[in-house]
Amino acid sequence: MSRFDGKVVIVTGAASGIGAATAKRFLDDGAFVVLNDIRRDKLVETSSGFDPGRVLIHSGDVSDRTYLQAMVDETVSRFDRIDVLVNNAGIEIIGPILGTSIESWHKIMQTNVDSVYFAIRSALPHLLKSKGSIINVSSTCGLGGDWYNSAYNASKGAVSNLTRALALELGISGVRVNAVAPGTTFTEMTKPIEQHAALMTKFLERIPLGRGAIPEEVASVIAFLASEDATFVNGVNLPVDGGLTASNGQPNATAFLADFGFASQSEQRL
Ligand SMILES: NC(=O)c1ccc[n+]([C@@H]2O[C@H](COP(=O)([O-])OP(=O)(O)OC[C@H]3O[C@@H](n4cnc5c(N)ncnc54)[C@H](O)[C@@H]3O)[C@@H](O)[C@H]2O)c1
Repeated sequence: MSRFDGKVVIVTGAASGIGAATAKRFLDDGAFVVLNDIRRDKLVETSSGFDPGRVLIHSGDVSDRTYLQAMVDETVSRFDRIDVLVNNAGIEIIGPILGTSIESWHKIMQTNVDSVYFAIRSALPHLLKSKGSIINVSSTCGLGGDWYNSAYNASKGAVSNLTRALALELGISGVRVNAVAPGTTFTEMTKPIEQHAALMTKFLERIPLGRGAIPEEVASVIAFLASEDATFVNGVNLPVDGGLTASNGQPNATAFLADFGFASQSEQRL
């Protein structure tokens, strides 16, 4: 008996990265999974090894609320129920505020925020019946600001606070609402940063574990939040960040100690 046997899970943005790993994790744990993505070919490729009897491939644009309603309706007509909604699809557009086009602002808000709000509205009648749960994929960028990332920061901040507000509103009905806040996770989204060695080094030196995550390390936390092991967890934005947000933002003092010739076990009065 697997922990999601008979459960029906929707994962948006499931063609690659965290979404693909999440879909696979729920399938491995016994669920029926609806995989959404805007990239149909990539979605078909990603799901090629999955049991066709337990998946529904549903390609479309999550920023279109008519599409989201159709995705939910077709999920229920195929599998009869919805137990878990994972709002994962997202995009990042970086740049200074005056260099970011109005079109990019609207695209990021529609893809990252409107999608979550309207997917929840469409799926909620079914989640109320199943006493299911919602997991939103926010970001450490939703918990604080970054340089030159204001549109993405605003969008993920909205996802984080929507999570908190709906956890309050829906908790009494038995529907839990939580989010994960991943830090650097190696996916297609981080490819441009990975190609910039100096910036990548700066990212990694802020992470106490000294490395970024692989998508499966985020997927396993999403599955935990949806599981019977988390029945009293509601309204959290759980960092999956190797300890990044445990820092107050000051730089790592290791180099300071080394420059002054202190052995690793010695102290320094400041
Ligand atoms: N990779 C990271 O370091 C990181 C960190 C924090 C949060 N996140 C968040 O994790 C989520 C998944 O990103 P990822 O890192 O796996 O990147 P990814 O690019 O591999 O996956 C995102 C998926 O969303 C899909 N998508 C984009 N717009 C869509 C739309 N309008 N409709 C349907 N699908 C759409 C893409 O085609 C892609 O397959 C995103 O919400 C992202 O903001 C990523």
